[in-house]
Amino acid sequence: MNAYSGKHTADATTVEEGLAIAEAQDAQYTDEMATETAMANTLLTPRFYTTDFDELDAIDVSSVREDWDKLIAQMVSDPNKGHFKKNDDWDQIDWDGMEPQLKKEFIDFLISSCTAEFSGCVLYKEMKRRGNNDDITQLFQLMARDEARHAGFINDALREAGLRVNLGFLTQKKKYTYFRPKFIYYATYLSEKIGYARYITIFRHLQANPEHRFHPIFKWFEEWCNDEFSHGEAFALLMKTDPKLTSGRNVLWIKFFLTAVYATMYVRDHQRPAFHEALGVDPDWYAHEVFTKTSTLSKQIFPITLDIEHPRWQSGLVKLQKANADLAAAKEQSGPLAMLRRASASTRAALAFAGLYLIPAKKHVVPASTRLEPAY
Ligand SMILES: [Fe+2]
Ligand SMILES: [Fe+2]
Repeated sequence: MNAYSGKHTADATTVEEGLAIAEAQDAQYTDEMATETAMANTLLTPRFYTTDFDELDAIDVSSVREDWDKLIAQMVSDPNKGHFKKNDDWDQIDWDGMEPQLKKEFIDFLISSCTAEFSGCVLYKEMKRRGNNDDITQLFQLMARDEARHAGFINDALREAGLRVNLGFLTQKKKYTYFRPKFIYYATYLSEKIGYARYITIFRHLQANPEHRFHPIFKWFEEWCNDEFSHGEAFALLMKTDPKLTSGRNVLWIKFFLTAVYATMYVRDHQRPAFHEALGVDPDWYAHEVFTKTSTLSKQIFPITLDIEHPRWQSGLVKLQKANADLAAAKEQSGPLAMLRRASASTRAALAFAGLYLIPAKKHVVPASTRLEPAY
């Protein structure tokens, strides 16, 4: 027993408290499977990032002060404090009775989501720790607080299946990928906004079709996605402070990140057919819906969006997904023939990605203010 046992991550007001509570809970579980899965570093699994924290700390938000202060005030008011924990709405799940393929894919979904939430938490917490700029450290403290709660809540769901992602262990041992600050802005902004679009699309779908809600965690997605929405708003404001970030050659980088984030989502979701079937969601419909929402939102700051209605877009995604499936199958085999198969599938995947990237983008005039409200 320690000072944090009996407390819940949902009530933590700082990221440090949230993580200490998570650690106290973790001590009771010994299963390593979920942590091992979370440790994996492939193109498709969530990564941990590090960056040039001094450059980030040097950002001056004066040019966006009015919108900045509104956003921070809203985050400080903390409308979701205490929300991310089980209550009477939490229906009991018969994990042992769950169809095995669905159980496997759903657990994979929870572990991957938990790792992605925690990836944000670790990056934001580190920025808060290293910075001296009050605006920046306050923002990152608030975002890290939210992500610690999100990761903690997913771990609550995993514990019922006898699993947990060991967050302390991951912080220490998972490999960190270095990204220059501008790449952090593009990647993190997009992952926050696509996270919002993913959560709200599932939430609205299950609101209309509650018979498909096979797990209670989906009931929490509405408030959840509002947190991600605010985080995305913060990154839009950070980018707004420096017009160079969203013009000139950087537009090519923006296009790269848009393509990579959309394509990764498509391929990853198509690895979970039973999960989407249980939700009553066609993964192609879902992808298109999420891309449409994310594109509409990202017009607040990015001068281009991908042409997801282009005839080569959907066929390119299908090619990429098939190449990835073949690659995964070839990795299970050994011998010279398997090596050849692996090489061929990798080449096909690279070509399919290049094909998607080369589809001409749509250009937009970016509004003077980035400010948006969650509207879906
Ligand atoms: Fe989150
Ligand atoms: Fe977030």
